[in-house]
Amino acid sequence: MKKVVLTGDRPSGPLHLGHYVGSLLSRLDLQETLEQFVMIADVQALTDNYENPKKVSSNILQVAIDYLSVGIDPAKTAICIQSMIPEIAELTQFYLNLVTWNRLKHNPTVKQEIVQKGFEDSVPAGFMIYPVSQAADITFVRATVVPVGEDQLPMIEQTNEIVRKFNRIYNTDVLLEAEALLPKCPRLPGIDGKAKMSKSLGNGIYLKDSADELFKKIKQMYTDPSHLRVEDPGKVEGNMVFTYLDVFAKDKAKVEELKAHYQRGGLGDMTVKKYLMEVLNEILLPIRERRAELEKDIGYVIDVLKQGTQKARERGEETISLVKSAMSICHEKQLLAHPSDFL
Ligand code: TRP
Repeated sequence: MKKVVLTGDRPSGPLHLGHYVGSLLSRLDLQETLEQFVMIADVQALTDNYENPKKVSSNILQVAIDYLSVGIDPAKTAICIQSMIPEIAELTQFYLNLVTWNRLKHNPTVKQEIVQKGFEDSVPAGFMIYPVSQAADITFVRATVVPVGEDQLPMIEQTNEIVRKFNRIYNTDVLLEAEALLPKCPRLPGIDGKAKMSKSLGNGIYLKDSADELFKKIKQMYTDPSHLRVEDPGKVEGNMVFTYLDVFAKDKAKVEELKAHYQRGGLGDMTVKKYLMEVLNEILLPIRERRAELEKDIGYVIDVLKQGTQKARERGEETISLVKSAMSICHEKQLLAHPSDFL
């Protein structure tokens, strides 16, 4: 039996280069050897966008197209939509009994997000419990490998606590603990040098950006503010053009040469930016081409989502029935077949 991998993204905006190096590349690898599920987590996205559901629903197809255009292969990866899998909601309900309110309040990622999103004292309960729903995302297909960024480690930890508690209390082994798989490269900063690419900061380069948009963004990139004239020596640390070249350029020797030249002086920002444009275009051009084709055939994208979701649901139904048996909850099949178990 192949190990099962599951990851997901909140469809609250299009995917960017940070997603590309942080998760999409590893999904391309993983689909070759493991059984992979990738979830468009629209229910989770609603926990902080409940007032603006269109923002979520209008990004579902976009994110699916992002996946397909980078080469996620629906023959190897089931792409599924969270809201169309009611088993996840059912599991969440059962898991909530196994988590204390106090534990939820101490999830460091949730704590940070509460501050970022300005919830103050009005945190929606749905938001507070999303780590439990994420535990359901992971366990409904009985995934044991979860490729995620550093910020998601508390979710995996909380998932495993739920798994252990469930198995102990209900004296079973139906749920499996999962292991986080961290990306190879550190988080890609935004073009402004801020720690994270995000739609709200307007500092991201999206997979769907045209060559013109890409060049506009590269031109705005944060470099070394004291590198005013071409002759001046410049700094490469914290200079986004070099940070990006380190991540994306294949010709490492050339990058080292450019760095040395820049530090000595005599190399203008625009020259390095043009090289970065070349490097990124080489990666993004084929992705853009596939996107253009997919956009002409939305029926195909819908089919992929239907089939992926169907596969996920079948897995979910299996898990729910095992979970209900373990918890000795009446479920239709069992009650009808073995009524004496319930007397
Ligand atoms: N919380 C993740 C994020 O914000 C998205 C997500 C939802 C997820 N369900 C998941 C990630 C299950 C891994 C596994 O990026």
